Amino acid sequence: MDSELQVKMFNIVPTLRCNLRCRLCNVLCPYFREPYHPTMEHLFEQADRYFSVIPRTARFVVSGGEPLVRSDLHEWVYFLAKFAPQIERLDLNTNGTLIPDDRLLQSLSEYPGKIRVLVDDYGSDKSVKAWEAYEAFKGVYGAEVELRDYCTKDAHFGGWVDFGIYDLYKLQRKTDEQAVKTNATCSTPKMGYAAMMLNGIMYHCPRQIYLIAHKVIPALPGEAIDFFDDSLGDAELRQRVAAFYKSGAHLTCYYCEGLQEEAPVRHPAAEQMTAAEQHRIWEAHDGWRKRNHD
Ligand SMILES: C[S@@+](CC[C@H](N)C(=O)[O-])C[C@H]1O[C@@H](n2cnc3c(N)ncnc32)[C@H](O)[C@@H]1O
Ligand code: SF4
Ligand code: SF4
Repeated sequence: MDSELQVKMFNIVPTLRCNLRCRLCNVLCPYFREPYHPTMEHLFEQADRYFSVIPRTARFVVSGGEPLVRSDLHEWVYFLAKFAPQIERLDLNTNGTLIPDDRLLQSLSEYPGKIRVLVDDYGSDKSVKAWEAYEAFKGVYGAEVELRDYCTKDAHFGGWVDFGIYDLYKLQRKTDEQAVKTNATCSTPKMGYAAMMLNGIMYHCPRQIYLIAHKVIPALPGEAIDFFDDSLGDAELRQRVAAFYKSGAHLTCYYCEGLQEEAPVRHPAAEQMTAAEQHRIWEAHDGWRKRNHD
């Protein structure tokens, strides 16, 4: 049973920094005043621990934040190559603002497994290097490369969803029944969640990271799994991960609207907030924390 455990999608987060300010970012990167940005050594430690516990990962995602803001991203790809036998496919997602450098392209070409690169095109005003990045990634040996349209009338899925979680002051806790329904009709669990690791802790959805960071919800041991908790052996960790995938609504689903399958309202992708708006949000968050927690 243990040896069969497969995580469908996983990202050991290389950065939550980003060079865009998308109002509806599903990871809420622009909402963090000091976005997470681990050292490469810390990423390596997390990968060693994760892959020693989890035998198989279907999609291991190199994403963020914007992964290409890291000029040392090639080191991460070279390190991940060690674990290629445990990874079905390595995915890299980027926002089309930056052209990959030769070291990154070389590391991807040397990766000994399947690779898929997704270049999101949010329009020529934002994804200013989308075509050049796409052309450069097409040179990666054996990689499947897609330039994803997020800016025309044929935009992928018609655009983005609003997870309804952005304004802390407007959050309303749902009833048990509503949360169970939201989770049951959300596509995220069906895709195997968008699990991420930050500081050695595995989260099911990026929205959870935002709510925990702003103390809206606690990090419950069954929902935020600490791979560096010395009291948990590997088998216990695997059990927790398996249980986490089987459980219904998580605490985050009490606040999040989810990726609804039925009649989804879609919004233009990557609409930007201004720097002034972003500052106002950070200040509002400081006020919110003071009022509720300090
Ligand atoms: C958080 S981004 C990180 C990678 C990179 N910065 C980018 O934008 O492509 C990961 C993926 O989530 C998608 N995404 C972000 N916010 C979304 C939303 N509100 N609804 C649907 N997809 C979203 C992006 O288009 C991208 O493909
Ligand atoms: S480009 Fe937009 S969606 Fe991607 S991480 Fe940055 S803010 Fe989020
Ligand atoms: S409703 Fe729950 S499972 Fe769906 S995206 Fe939101 S937090 Fe994730």
